[in-house]
Amino acid sequence: MAHPLIAPSILSADFARLGEEIAAVATPGPTRADWVHVDVMDAHFVPNLTLGLPVVQSLLKSTDVPVDCHLMIDDPDRWAIGYAEAGAYNVTVHVEAAKDPVKLAKDLRAAGAKAGLSIKPGTPLEAHLDTLKHYDTLLVMSVEPGFGGQSFIPDVLEKVRTARRLVDTGHLKLIVEIDGGINADTIEQAAEAGVDCFVAGSAVYGADDPGRAVAALREQAAR
Ligand code: DX5
Ligand code: ZN
Repeated sequence: MAHPLIAPSILSADFARLGEEIAAVATPGPTRADWVHVDVMDAHFVPNLTLGLPVVQSLLKSTDVPVDCHLMIDDPDRWAIGYAEAGAYNVTVHVEAAKDPVKLAKDLRAAGAKAGLSIKPGTPLEAHLDTLKHYDTLLVMSVEPGFGGQSFIPDVLEKVRTARRLVDTGHLKLIVEIDGGINADTIEQAAEAGVDCFVAGSAVYGADDPGRAVAALREQAAR
């Protein structure tokens, strides 16, 4: 992968200092994140609760790094648009939660965001290929959504390979993103399978120097 994108997930950051934590990966140069990944959880779609639109609105005002919102929520058809209107760069909804994902993608794009579709580890890709024609990013979950610091599930790489093939043959136009358990031990296999954008929470914010972790992961993915 020539230009791998690294998206630190602030789920593993210090929530009392989110602005500073994002600033730690925002200095121009190799330690800068390509996107900042923000995990929105509602304690319904996943058994955890994080943050919502007001916090994202404030973060958007505090950084120029593109913000990648991963909505692990019920009824994204109703709530996702607010994140696009607030200025998020990419807004990802779960295919397991969206009622009308094609309309949702159109609405997100019309509001100026990229539209992202996420699939849980147990959700097959094949059933959603037509829907994906309307999307800009595909977020393949490599852990069960809900918590940081879980172990990478290598089986999902088969979905990455399928998506990569469909993109490379011109059948789909997608940025392939992976989320969950990405670290120095797993990023190379994900890169080999064809991932474009790597979300990393604990591997970045669990490190002494988050910026250096971003640079190191990007170098590894580019090998
Ligand atoms: C999990 C979240 C991930 C999480 C990844 O549901 O979607 O973005 O922050 O954390 P790590 O990289 O620690 O697995
Ligand atoms: Zn995420």
